[in-house]
Amino acid sequence: MTKKLGIGLVGASGWMAGALAAGAEYLDGDLEKAVKHPHSVVTALCARNQEILKERKQLWGLDQAELFSDYDEMLASPHVDAVIIAVPNHLHAGFALKALEAGKHVFLEKPLAIHPKESAALLKAAAASPLTTKVDYILVHYDEQQKLHGLIKQGAFGQLASTHFTYRHPIQIGESADQQWKLSKEISGGAIPMGICHAISLTVYQADSDPVDVSCKSAPALCREFDYAPRQDLIITFANGVVSVVQGNIDFAEKYDARHNLCGTEGQFDYVPYNPRESRAMWSSQSMNRDYAPDPDFANDHLDSGDVWEHQCASTVNEFVENAVKGIKDPLLGFESPLVQRTEAIIWAAERSAAAGGDRIQL
Ligand SMILES: NC(=O)c1ccc[n+]([C@@H]2O[C@H](COP(=O)([O-])OP(=O)(O)OC[C@H]3O[C@@H](n4cnc5c(N)ncnc54)[C@H](O)[C@@H]3O)[C@@H](O)[C@H]2O)c1
Repeated sequence: MTKKLGIGLVGASGWMAGALAAGAEYLDGDLEKAVKHPHSVVTALCARNQEILKERKQLWGLDQAELFSDYDEMLASPHVDAVIIAVPNHLHAGFALKALEAGKHVFLEKPLAIHPKESAALLKAAAASPLTTKVDYILVHYDEQQKLHGLIKQGAFGQLASTHFTYRHPIQIGESADQQWKLSKEISGGAIPMGICHAISLTVYQADSDPVDVSCKSAPALCREFDYAPRQDLIITFANGVVSVVQGNIDFAEKYDARHNLCGTEGQFDYVPYNPRESRAMWSSQSMNRDYAPDPDFANDHLDSGDVWEHQCASTVNEFVENAVKGIKDPLLGFESPLVQRTEAIIWAAERSAAAGGDRIQL
């Protein structure tokens, strides 16, 4: 039997790291069925608290995992071929760079980085490396978004003209976990790297073109104690003429939700997460002879659960493993992919625009 890809998981939060560990250890990430993944196994777990690591190892059934509190020591292990990084954001780029230097494939939680310089260094290192990389812009994996992308590509809406996301990603601070870092700009990078990057990645996925200019206005917190502005409204123009609005808010919501719509010359699409399931997705298309009406099947894999165990964590990790085993780059979410490069360009232009009070930044 060929050797399984040995995975070192860095970060041991109960929900995020658990969902990622399950994706690396079990087929389809299903702990209940406990069918081990044929191509990967968690060989190392790393976090600051050893007691928690012992608990997690047992809870998640990671029989072969060696425990580390020091990331560099974990990277030196010959049993680690790839890393999954799910630690506070200010550590992302440095940890990912070190892993590439140590010859390990990298699956990185979003954001890629919290400063434009470290983002650029990481993109450059990944492009020069044969290793597989992937950033966890998990929403791009949703069936609903992939179906929408397919319809745009087949011209169902004619020429795409505009897209609009109202993305609410309320940051939850767990009672026992040391998650206060999410309220700090210095550690989280601010609202866009912390959460709104998800809506930007979806906008880039659907617009499918180079961004030309970006403007962004910030607004203060209404509910939580952030030391930065958690509401950011972006307008992005793309080279193919699409104009996109992203209204991001990580401060308040009933739960995560991504209300979105798009308009083309021959049709339109609306996704309203507050509607009953059968009327959540509605669309029209002249070329498909479809009048504007709800499509009950469309909304089966909806975006607004906020539960990472229910999200596509397992399939994003499974796909990363398959690519790493084959020795190929991830075409959609690899660090060198157009989607990731365009998303990074928009993130840093939006940060500059917001700092300048909303000026339009050319890319
Ligand atoms: N893709 C998504 O949808 C999604 C959802 C939630 C969280 N995330 C990302 O996952 C990451 C983790 O978020 P979380 O909610 O699990 O945070 P958390 O604070 O609950 O957990 C962070 C973990 O990192 C460990 N850690 C901190 N410093 C370390 C170090 N120097 N070396 C080794 N381990 C260290 C901590 O011990 C802890 O286990 C963040 O980057 C967040 O943005 C992504």
